[in-house]
Amino acid sequence: MTDSELAVLAVKAMENSYSPYSGFKVGAALESKSGKVFTGCNVENAAFTPTCCAERVALFKGISEGEREFKKIAVAGGKNGKIDSVCTPCGVCRQALSEFCGADFKIICAGRDEVKAFTLSELLPQSFSSEDVL
Ligand code: THU
Repeated sequence: MTDSELAVLAVKAMENSYSPYSGFKVGAALESKSGKVFTGCNVENAAFTPTCCAERVALFKGISEGEREFKKIAVAGGKNGKIDSVCTPCGVCRQALSEFCGADFKIICAGRDEVKAFTLSELLPQSFSSEDVL
């Protein structure tokens, strides 16, 4: 799948965002190495901390379906569902992705007027990993 096709799926996934507290809708589309795409949206909670970002919803959907290797993810988001500037994954999502994705894993961030692409190692340098623990 091309980066722009994946970005279109991320934008589409924003529609299901449950974000009554922030009003900030996020969508993500994650492609596995086997070619399957898992989408996710942010799911907020009245107690705030149980909130889960779109990227982790997509990642955990993939993991729970048996996938362990991923090619790339596209992310889009904006206040009240209106995409403006590019929205990059939060620190927790970067760390969650790093459990399964390598340094060259591609992160495509779609804004209204531009698309920025990063590698995971650019967004999460010097990361803490399983090698530190095991
Ligand atoms: N959010 C995401 O879904 N992904 C990110 O990478 C950044 C933040 C969500 C969490 C919360 O529901 C809302 O955006 C505002 O922080």
